[in-house]
Amino acid sequence: MDQKLMNVLTIFLFLMLAFTTKIQSSVVFDVTSAKYGGKPNSDITKALLNAWTDACASRRESKVLVPRGTYRLKGAIFRGHCKAPIELQVRGTLQAPKHTSQVTSPDTWVGFRYLNRLTLSGGGTFDGRGALSWKQNDCNENKNCKSRVVNIRFDFVNDTIIKDITSLDSKNFHFNVFACHNVTFQHATITAPGESVNTDGIHIARSTMVTVANTSIGTGDDCISIGDGTSQLKFTNVTCGPGHGISIGSLGGHRDEQPVTGVIIKNVTFNNTQNGARIKTWPASYAGLVSDIHYEDITMVNVSNPIIIDQEYCPWNLCNKQIPSKVKISNVSFKNIKGTSTTPLAVNFICSRSVPCENVEIAGIDLTYTGHKGLTNSQCSNVKLATIVNVTKALACGNHPPIITSKNHTKSHTSTISRSKNYQTETKNQTDSVVGNESTRGHHRKYGMV
Ligand SMILES: *[C@@H]1O[C@H](CO)[C@@H](O)[C@H](O)[C@H]1NC(C)=O
Ligand SMILES: *[C@@H]1O[C@H](CO)[C@@H](O)[C@H](O)[C@H]1NC(C)=O
Ligand SMILES: *[C@@H]1O[C@H](CO)[C@@H](O)[C@H](O)[C@H]1NC(C)=O
Ligand SMILES: *[C@@H]1O[C@H](CO)[C@@H](O)[C@H](O)[C@H]1NC(C)=O
Ligand SMILES: *[C@@H]1O[C@H](CO)[C@@H](O)[C@H](O)[C@H]1NC(C)=O
Ligand SMILES: *[C@@H]1O[C@H](CO)[C@@H](O)[C@H](O)[C@H]1NC(C)=O
Ligand SMILES: *[C@@H]1O[C@H](CO)[C@@H](O)[C@H](O)[C@H]1NC(C)=O
Ligand SMILES: *[C@@H]1O[C@H](CO)[C@@H](O)[C@H](O)[C@H]1NC(C)=O
Ligand SMILES: *[C@@H]1O[C@H](CO)[C@@H](O)[C@H](O)[C@H]1NC(C)=O
Repeated sequence: MDQKLMNVLTIFLFLMLAFTTKIQSSVVFDVTSAKYGGKPNSDITKALLNAWTDACASRRESKVLVPRGTYRLKGAIFRGHCKAPIELQVRGTLQAPKHTSQVTSPDTWVGFRYLNRLTLSGGGTFDGRGALSWKQNDCNENKNCKSRVVNIRFDFVNDTIIKDITSLDSKNFHFNVFACHNVTFQHATITAPGESVNTDGIHIARSTMVTVANTSIGTGDDCISIGDGTSQLKFTNVTCGPGHGISIGSLGGHRDEQPVTGVIIKNVTFNNTQNGARIKTWPASYAGLVSDIHYEDITMVNVSNPIIIDQEYCPWNLCNKQIPSKVKISNVSFKNIKGTSTTPLAVNFICSRSVPCENVEIAGIDLTYTGHKGLTNSQCSNVKLATIVNVTKALACGNHPPIITSKNHTKSHTSTISRSKNYQTETKNQTDSVVGNESTRGHHRKYGMV
């Protein structure tokens, strides 16, 4: 009897052990193993791709390992579908060729395609060695430019985690996320000099559920830029700078763009950036939709344009600003935004004459000008401000001192402000309509400015 029990217990323990080992361990494919033959300070392009092919075919969870050390990589496209979850753990540094022409693919240094349950990790660095290509990069002005090598691309990738990874000195964008679902960046570091051209930190398009957390981005272009067809994005605990800020857009440049909806940008510090919280669309644009965008708990340190909606975005003056944008922007909030602006114009809403911005909320805006030309102010055209809480008149498009909200009642307020250069208030007509009882007057207001 006792013996039987012992046997049963032994078998049970054995099964437990087998089970836990199975879920904990993955098969490791080390690029420096004899089978793949990768060596530090040499080119491991072949070794890495061979290791990936074997790992991807594994029925068990697998890990491709690049140990500490520096390795050269001409380029790699890691394709799925793989049979089980797969991890690429880079503990060392991978270096791209200096010359764009030596990268294997014309637009991608490292690419991940058609994958589920991928993990990119290891504390290592993807060094794009972009200095040469920044000098040649004319992608800002030339749509057919040659220098399009993105450091790391994810195309059609789902349920993926990118953690403890550094992208350094990319030739073009650092990360490009396209047609992906449920991708989380955590504790990533993105670094390129402030003067490097077109080195956006993370560009996201046609994707859902992309999260960026605990990440530091310093680069020569947008820290994060968001293209069409994106929803349920979340950026928290991010520092941005140098760079051009976090931007929705530019949108409206192409036919059939999908909406951008549901973006939360929370606890972000912008340090020495050109812009902070931005939404931009082209004038004379195709139709589009931007809604449910929320910037919250933001610190601005020496930022040129801290809060900006620009529907006449036209960087090289090659567009017709007379024709308004057709991208509709609505349900946008800027809350608890504090810090310093290097220009007096801290809040700038240039919305479309044909489809004005609607339901824009500003609350707790406290931005001071670092210079000596006066105080911070705001400029607003074609924007319907829904709520204004704890914002000075100067920063609230000339509308009223701080207001304390009261949920149930609304005071509506419509005014027209037209602009001339950087000054507002040329003409100003205001009509009040009051909803609610007398006691709540002046407590919660709706502002419309068209
Ligand atoms: C990723 O998810 C999308 C939407 O659920 C699906 O259409 C696509 O096939 C998935 N991709 C892969 C590689 O499984
Ligand atoms: C997102 O992907 C992660 C990592 O694979 C996974 O653990 C998580 O369950 C996924 N979330 C959803 C909602 O599918
Ligand atoms: C960010 O870091 C904090 C503290 O280390 C951690 O609790 C949190 O889970 C991290 N966020 C993500 C998405 O990993
Ligand atoms: C942000 O950082 C704080 C403090 O480290 C942490 O508690 C929180 O979980 C982080 N948020 C996210 C979404 O990672
Ligand atoms: C905000 O993010 C920073 C990192 O950028 C983190 O140190 C801090 O704890 C976060 N604060 C909160 C309230 O999550
Ligand atoms: C801003 O960046 C500068 C370096 O460019 C750094 O010295 C400073 O500490 C940063 N400030 C904040 C608040 O992060
Ligand atoms: C603030 O930004 C201006 C340019 O916008 C720059 O000249 C100046 O050095 C920055 N100040 C600090 C303290 O970084
Ligand atoms: C904006 O928010 C309102 C109220 O919450 C909602 O009814 C409306 O559908 C939203 N608009 C868009 C375009 O999401
Ligand atoms: C407005 O300011 C008061 C006093 O500083 C603060 O208690 C309240 O939370 C603020 N409300 C918003 C929405 O920022």
